[in-house]
Amino acid sequence: MDENLPADENCGCPDGEGKLTLDGSVPVVQITNLQTKFGRTVVHQDLNLEIEQGEILSIVGGSGTGKTVLLRQMLGLERPSKGCVRIFGEDISEANAEHLQQLRNHWGMLFQQGALYSALTVFENIAQPMRELRVLPQDLIRDAVLLKMNMVDLGPEHANKMPSDLSGGMIKRVALARALVLEPKLLFLDEPTAGLDPDRSESFVKLIKSLHRELGLTVVMVTHDLDTLFALSTRIAVLAEKHVIAIAPTREVIKVDHPFIKEFFLGDRGKRALEALDESNEASKNKE
Ligand SMILES: Nc1ncnc2c1ncn2[C@@H]1O[C@H](COP(=O)(O)OP(=O)(O)O)[C@@H](O)[C@H]1O
Ligand SMILES: [Mg+2]
Repeated sequence: MDENLPADENCGCPDGEGKLTLDGSVPVVQITNLQTKFGRTVVHQDLNLEIEQGEILSIVGGSGTGKTVLLRQMLGLERPSKGCVRIFGEDISEANAEHLQQLRNHWGMLFQQGALYSALTVFENIAQPMRELRVLPQDLIRDAVLLKMNMVDLGPEHANKMPSDLSGGMIKRVALARALVLEPKLLFLDEPTAGLDPDRSESFVKLIKSLHRELGLTVVMVTHDLDTLFALSTRIAVLAEKHVIAIAPTREVIKVDHPFIKEFFLGDRGKRALEALDESNEASKNKE
């Protein structure tokens, strides 16, 4: 934030309950009139977004439109210059460092690059959020790590490998296991399938789908991969002109008359991905 700018009177959330609410009675994410500025550059202006419990909400937008910065706002890693970001009902820009740390235990984040510690084994990478809590006994940590490895289809034989020994797909799985190790209710994914080949990408999508179902997660994902987008999203939010210009299920969002939406969804790749979606919907209907 620019220290020289006068504090804005509209900054922050309106007074209200603002208590941690994990039962789904308030939106999991509630962003109101958000402005994000870096110096004089305005990245978000009057941005509104609500995400309900159990959704897989995907955020799309051109390169540099502020998707990653929006995730960072939800994680409390950036501060709004105006407006309000509430997660589980709490105003996270008001949370002090200690409280933010507690809040962080309720969500997991998969960064674009996987972001594993290169000097730590697979096991230690996944264990690290539990170790940071400093209160959990060793055997509980071991069981939790092995359980999460199993959940993401990584056998125990990989526990002592180093990140440099892993394929791109495995790095994503380790990072996902780490994001899940504290059993969060909310999972953030930034370009989860970027850099994976189509097969690995498809199996990662299946994995997210089954974890979403089994763990009752709310998922907030940034992706430009159309197959991932169509296969997973319950709704899609389109970021353009510094705010969310449309938010709706896939079928409705693609009908919105906006140049970015036309170019992104209705080009050749978009059409192919939509056909694939239709086919898989047909297939699952026939199975029922
Ligand atoms: N810490 C920062 N300081 C200054 N500008 C930043 C910072 N982080 C991001 N930006 C700018 O904000 C804009 C949005 O970035 P980003 O959210 O990373 O875009 P994307 O939609 O591609 O993820 C870009 O113009 C970027 O240069
Ligand atoms: Mg980005």
